[in-house]
Amino acid sequence: MKNIVILISGGGSNMAAIVRAAQQQNWDTGLGARVAAVISNKADAKGLELARAQGIATEVLDHKQFDSREGFDTALVALIDQYDPALVVLAGFMRILTPGFVEHYAGRLLNIHPSLLPAFTGLHTHQRAIDAGCKFAGASVHQVTAELDVGPILDQAVVPVLPGDTADTLAARVLTQEHVLYPRAIAQWLSSHP
Ligand code: GAR
Repeated sequence: MKNIVILISGGGSNMAAIVRAAQQQNWDTGLGARVAAVISNKADAKGLELARAQGIATEVLDHKQFDSREGFDTALVALIDQYDPALVVLAGFMRILTPGFVEHYAGRLLNIHPSLLPAFTGLHTHQRAIDAGCKFAGASVHQVTAELDVGPILDQAVVPVLPGDTADTLAARVLTQEHVLYPRAIAQWLSSHP
């Protein structure tokens, strides 16, 4: 059985969509994979309750307890590796990862970013798409490499930018599609890594 470990920082709606897809599509028997743990850097991340309610192991590692990024990432690797992951999934995990962390999970670390990469890496993607006059926005699932939001793109979802959109209305439209995109991209990754 391949273990998936999901890292979150907040609402966890992408994590919930992945867990739902894993159940509904029987990833355990079909793809030989299961969501083994959900880990958050914030104890009050709403997604942790959702995961617990599904009987999934949860862990909290508070980055504020560490003096350095390296110290946090070293402890995070130790925690994640307790679950022997075939795949580590960043789902709204709002921490910049050190090169050492990224190297440790090279080839088995995915992220979802709320823009049509390579446009709008970093933060405030929806407002920046609106400000740039984009007619379409979306989300990208990509492999994580040392450079932020730049790794190979696995799949994307596109939504229109509508007249009168605010960052919030556009974010909500994109997020709905993220919930379809991310489980699809993970299932694709699992089937191509038997
Ligand atoms: C999602 O829109 C995700 O794409 C974004 O945070 C949100 C998390 O929502 N990620 C990033 O901005 C990463 N740089 P969720 O916690 O409900 O899944």
